[in-house]
Amino acid sequence: MTTTNARRCVFAALLAASSTLVSTTIVSAQGSEGIVVYNAQHESLATAWVEGFTKETGIKVTVRKGGDTQFANQLIQEGANSPADVFLTENSPAMALVDGAGLFAPVDKETLDQVPAEYRAADGMWTGIAARTTVFAYDKTKLTEDKLPKSMLDLADPAWKGRWGASPAGADFQAIVGALLQLKGEEATSSWLKAMKDNVTPYKGNSVAMKAVNAGEIEGAVIYHYYWFGDQAKTGENSKNVALHYFKNQDPGAFVSVSGGGVLKSSKHQKEAQAFLKWITGNAGQAVLKDGDSFEYAISGESNPKLVPLKDLNAPKIEASTLDSKKTVELMTAAGLL
Ligand SMILES: [Fe+2]
Repeated sequence: MTTTNARRCVFAALLAASSTLVSTTIVSAQGSEGIVVYNAQHESLATAWVEGFTKETGIKVTVRKGGDTQFANQLIQEGANSPADVFLTENSPAMALVDGAGLFAPVDKETLDQVPAEYRAADGMWTGIAARTTVFAYDKTKLTEDKLPKSMLDLADPAWKGRWGASPAGADFQAIVGALLQLKGEEATSSWLKAMKDNVTPYKGNSVAMKAVNAGEIEGAVIYHYYWFGDQAKTGENSKNVALHYFKNQDPGAFVSVSGGGVLKSSKHQKEAQAFLKWITGNAGQAVLKDGDSFEYAISGESNPKLVPLKDLNAPKIEASTLDSKKTVELMTAAGLL
């Protein structure tokens, strides 16, 4: 090849490369490359939301799988370079962490307007997308109504030693402890946790704890309600001996936890990300909760009719956006639970 020919070849290659760049830019400007969701919610629920949203809007969604705390920490590490456009959680403490780091963009007003105030952050930086209630799942072959704990706090009593379980390492249980901390303060929470350490059998996951109740290993477990409903809707094999006790009376054990959704400030697809959040909190997204098999509560509109209505749970009043996960982990670690 002559020098001139070689130069021509290089020029042609550069031209080809630059036209590729141009077309990539156009695709991105149209937003058709879609959005990335860091999803810590249950996979089947997120999939149902994503499929409904994409079908209606044509916007593609890539879902990445992880846990509440794991993704919150990852987002804080990634900062402005995060590939995430949207963050969905099971519980609100992880939302509070990311909000505290200043990583969220304000949620569109239209979205906030369709969510009741008690199910979204006071600062408008994230919104509730679903809700779940704390329950005491108990062995109905062993315990009768009169033998059930009146309050979750009763489980600290030595009479309950070795008789109940929980999944202390999970974000679900840590949200419950966060609520206890907000309601009763540091001292009361710390002594309850120390007593819990003496009494509890720890399991890895709520469904494992429920299975242990069903198998007669323990008499009850503090978990969320939907694990029982989900199992009942399938074969019921892991919950046939199990019934749910709702503490009500604004007890810490009647805590309703808010699953959160937020748009990252660093997202280059603000419009599409906000549209996704609006869709899941709107009629179509909330109908997935009502008609699907997640058995989580809708936060706007009607919930699945099989559930005890949210308004009948008599849950304690909690400010979801200030649940303190750092302090919670600190107290649980000091009690030897983590
Ligand atoms: Fe869960």
